[in-house]
Amino acid sequence: MVSNRNKFTNKFGFIAAAAGSAVGLGNIWRFPFEVGKGGGAAFLVVYLVFCFVLCYPLLITEIAIGRRAQKNPVGAFRAMKHPNWTFIGFLSVLCGILILSFYNVVSGWVFGYFVEMLLGNFAIGDNFSEYVKDIRTVGGYSLFFIAVTAFIVSKGVTQGIEKASKIMMPTLLVIILGLVIYAFTLDNAAEGLKFYLIPDPSKLTVEVIYSALGQAFFSLSLGMGALITYGSYLKKHEDIVFSGFIVTLADVSIAFLAGLMIFPFIFSQGLSTEGGTGLIFITLPGMFANLGPVLGIIVGSLFFLLLSFAALTSTISLMELPVSYLVDQHDMKREYAVWISAFIIFLIGIPSLVGNGYSPFFTNFITYLGAENPTDFMTFIADLSSNTLLPFGGLSIAVFSVYVWKRRKLFRELSYGRESFLKSWTARYVGFCLQYIAPLILGMIFIITIFETFLGIHFFK
Ligand code: TRP
Repeated sequence: MVSNRNKFTNKFGFIAAAAGSAVGLGNIWRFPFEVGKGGGAAFLVVYLVFCFVLCYPLLITEIAIGRRAQKNPVGAFRAMKHPNWTFIGFLSVLCGILILSFYNVVSGWVFGYFVEMLLGNFAIGDNFSEYVKDIRTVGGYSLFFIAVTAFIVSKGVTQGIEKASKIMMPTLLVIILGLVIYAFTLDNAAEGLKFYLIPDPSKLTVEVIYSALGQAFFSLSLGMGALITYGSYLKKHEDIVFSGFIVTLADVSIAFLAGLMIFPFIFSQGLSTEGGTGLIFITLPGMFANLGPVLGIIVGSLFFLLLSFAALTSTISLMELPVSYLVDQHDMKREYAVWISAFIIFLIGIPSLVGNGYSPFFTNFITYLGAENPTDFMTFIADLSSNTLLPFGGLSIAVFSVYVWKRRKLFRELSYGRESFLKSWTARYVGFCLQYIAPLILGMIFIITIFETFLGIHFFK
């Protein structure tokens, strides 16, 4: 299939964009608090195993489907002559819209915090719950964030997405390395590293395993066609097997570095590792304050700038999903598709925006069966999209690739750019994983989530 789609210029362009999609709030915001909850190193080990053993095969499969079809996820299954599977595509676009709707709200907070840090307003950590209720401020920042995202996506794949990622990803790496080195110089850094790096097998519960898998999926942008979309912009001679490995490695490394930075931060002040979602917004500003005004402003604003960059390369990839759908399937001009998507996604995000204290209705939006307390709108959408639809999407993609499209054709696509793949052990493993391991594990995770989260039937308690 030859097509005249706009393509990533070269390997580095693709890797920067795909790693940009993967590296996001998931790595720097969510990963450390999942580690904190999961008892430190035990979580880390399980997470690493999942990333390479289960997620990597799925990651290259998504990219291969995209490159083969040369289409957005909805068009992809039709182009491959399996129109019955188009539902995966629609689910992907829907899931992208849902994730972006709340992800953009959190990105707005992050960017707002960057501004507050520049102003030296460290007290913001104690006022987090007031801050997110201040709808005009946080709403303004999230509007700004989606506008920047839309602007970049409107410039197209090479001139927008690729260019922005090529600038932001290396900058992000430099900032995080600088902050890690700084964190090592703090008192008690060693304690933090011990918690983070020495596994305690007694902490290894089924729940930890379960959340490590969810984290790996979200972090690698798997299960909803984001990588099908990026794969459709990849040239035929590029080596997916290698690039996919670098993307996985980059994502895991940034998450790992985020831990190396945050745990010394936390232990240096004797703070709790179980700050949960507030770990970054509530705990850290206090630590920056203790560094004194000048150093505090530098370290604090660099930290939130890092987070803003990470978020932005991910919002771009999420926005590209509906945009590529509208452009391919409805022949819409890219600019229109972008601004329409941005507008609708911002609207869908409003309940998440106001559901953090401002609107009692959306703050106490729904009480799951068997639950004692109500769940806010943002958490509900996150449970629905990232915890439920992603494993389901991953399952469908694995089943599709080996049982419908067929392993032989998948492998042929993967061998373009890497002849030796066909006879390698990697190929054998990828085939085995897609055929047995992935459907089994993802199917279980999907069912467990529905019972545990929504129906209040607990297996682990
Ligand atoms: N991977 C990103 C993160 O870790 C989030 C993200 C971007 C994502 N695109 C995605 C998650 C597509 C799932 C699917 O923050």
